[in-house]
Formats: sequence, C-alpha cells, structure tokens
Amino acid sequence: MTDPGSTPTPPHRLMDIVTGLWAAKALAVATRMGLFSDLSAAPGLPVAEVAARHGIAERPAELLLTACAGLGLLVREGEGYANTPEAERYLVRGRPEYFGDAVISFDRRYAGWMRLEEAVAGNVPTNFDPRAKESMFDAQDAALKKTYWSAMYALSAPSARALGEVLDLGGVRRLLDVGGGGAAYDIELCRRYPDLRATVLDLPFVCELTREWVEEAGLQDRIALAPGDFLRDAALPTGHDAVLLSQVMHNWDEPTNRSILRKCHDALPPGGLIVISELLVDDTKDGPRLPALMSLHMLVSTWGQNYTPSDYTHWLTDTGFTDIHTLRFSAPGADGAVVGVKA
Ligand SMILES: C[S@@+](CC[C@H](N)C(=O)[O-])C[C@H]1O[C@@H](n2cnc3c(N)ncnc32)[C@H](O)[C@@H]1O
Repeated sequence: MTDPGSTPTPPHRLMDIVTGLWAAKALAVATRMGLFSDLSAAPGLPVAEVAARHGIAERPAELLLTACAGLGLLVREGEGYANTPEAERYLVRGRPEYFGDAVISFDRRYAGWMRLEEAVAGNVPTNFDPRAKESMFDAQDAALKKTYWSAMYALSAPSARALGEVLDLGGVRRLLDVGGGGAAYDIELCRRYPDLRATVLDLPFVCELTREWVEEAGLQDRIALAPGDFLRDAALPTGHDAVLLSQVMHNWDEPTNRSILRKCHDALPPGGLIVISELLVDDTKDGPRLPALMSLHMLVSTWGQNYTPSDYTHWLTDTGFTDIHTLRFSAPGADGAVVGVKA
C-alpha cells in the first residue's frame, strides 16, 4: 500500500509552494535568534527556558520551535528540542560549514521580493534604487557589508569543492578569480591543488573584507588580493593561466557580460582557461527549480539573470574561446560550469 503522505496531491503541492515563505521566515528568525546555537550547547533545553533566554513569551517560542521541528531541523528531546544533524552542522555559529549568514542575507532581500510585481511590470530591480546606484554592491551599505560576503562564502565553499571534483586544474599555476568576493573558490581550490596560486579581483572595500577570510585560512602567501573594478578598469591583471567567474555573470546584462568576457580574454595567454560557474538554467528554459528561481531573484536584485549553457557558449565563441563544454555538479550556489580555452 502506498503511504498516503508520500505522494502529494496537486492542491498539497500548491499549498507547499504558497507557504514557502513561511518556512523561509521561520528558518531565518530562528537562525537570527541563534536558536540552533542555543540547542547545540544545551540539547533538550526546556521551551520555557528558551523563551526566558530570549525575553519572549512561551507561546511564540513553542510555535517557532515546533515549526523548526516540522521543517525537519529539530527533534523532540526531553522537555524541549535538539538539533538534527543537518542543523547541527550548518546552523550553529562558529561551525566550519556555517550556513546561517546565507540564510540571513537571503532573508534581508525579501524586501525586494515583496515588490516582485513592480520588478515584473517595470523590468527593474527592487532590492536597490536603480536611480540612486548602479548595483547592489555598495560600499556605503553597512548591513550588506555585514552579511553579504560571509553569506557568499557559505554558499560558494561547497560549490568550489564540487567544482574541484569535476574540473581538473592540475595544469593551472595561477588563477584569476574575477569578482572573487569572499575568496571561497580560491581557498577551496588552493587547498585541493597545493601548487596553485590565486588572485581575487574585487572592489576595494570587498578586498578588505576578504583579507580576513584568506588570513583565517592561512593562505595569504598563495592568495593575492587585487582591488579593481571589472566594469571601469580598461584591463584585468595579467600573469594568470586561468580565469574564474563565479556567480558574476548572473548579475549583469548581456552587453556587460560580453565586455567582461573580452577583458578576461585579453588578460589570458593563448591556451588559457576560462571557467564560468553558475546555477545554470536549462537551454529549454523550463527549469531546474533552483536556477529558475535564482534567475527571478536576479530580477529583483540586479540587471542580470541566470543564463543557459547555450548563452555562455555563444558569448565565449564570439569572444574567441574554443573547446567550450559544460561540466555538471551539484551544490547550493552552482550546478555547472561552462569552460573554454583561449585560442
Ligand atoms: C555574487 S558575488 C560572487 C562572489 C564570488 N565570485 C563567489 O562566487 O563567491 C559577485 C561579486 O562581484 C563583485 N563585483 C561587483 N561589481 C564589481 C566590479 N565592478 N568590479 C569588481 N568586482 C565586482 C561583488 O563585490 C561580489 O563579490
């Protein structure tokens, strides 16, 4: 007999979609309050004590904890709750794979999602004021600076490890990570390839934040920081035999991306490798779910979208790259890489 709960009937599926925001908000609020960190230190902490610790009434404490249990992030223990292995690994502050900053950073950007109709109607981002600034990457935005790049780090470290499994960088000595952000790819790839050196090119204020992660990883001798601006600088730093663009192209429109790719091409020697790592929308433009939704997230947050392997193949071919192919892997921040070689 089929388990009646195992095959959701269509209205249930719609209800799951409709209530997706409820689940995301429950996770974000619990993470911001540090509930998973509390329960890591004191599994089974009675609900009344959780409430007292956070200065809230017992009713909302119980409902939030129950919701997190319903989401599979907590289990009952004694008079309270304890983390599941997933929550213990990813949602406890200070853990090496802590994902909480990504949860909090995406939650902050629901402000733009709440105005999705405006983004759809006007073909404009709603997560920043496009009349006041060029993009969301704003040195003056203190809240963005506080969480965005640590969120990118949490999202990109697993992507970098997954890319490292399918892409052989054994022949590469120096990698230029254009828009390298928190250096997650550089740190993970340098750990995997002991002879690899990398340069992170990013905006000057981002490089200052990134320095901390590189030093924490003890890789300051192998990962250099190159403050720059890939939109305004006429040329990118040379002396590298590979260029990486991770979650950069999805922030910009086609003409801007073609211009960035031209600069990457100019900076590489013949035979140099280019790697574009992204959540890729299928060429048929009917999914998969996460890249398709990330693309809509780009509508509210940027001038870009999540492109298809075929889009990248055309742009790379027009720019002068050959041997273009797409590698597939699975990670929350990327599920493929389009790779080419400078002719
Ligand atoms: C979505 S993040 C990706 C970060 C990193 N590549 C990763 O995958 O973790 C985009 C990055 O592009 C950088 N960026 C945006 N505009 C830039 C510009 N004009 N010049 C250099 N970097 C820029 C941002 O600061 C940010 O770090």
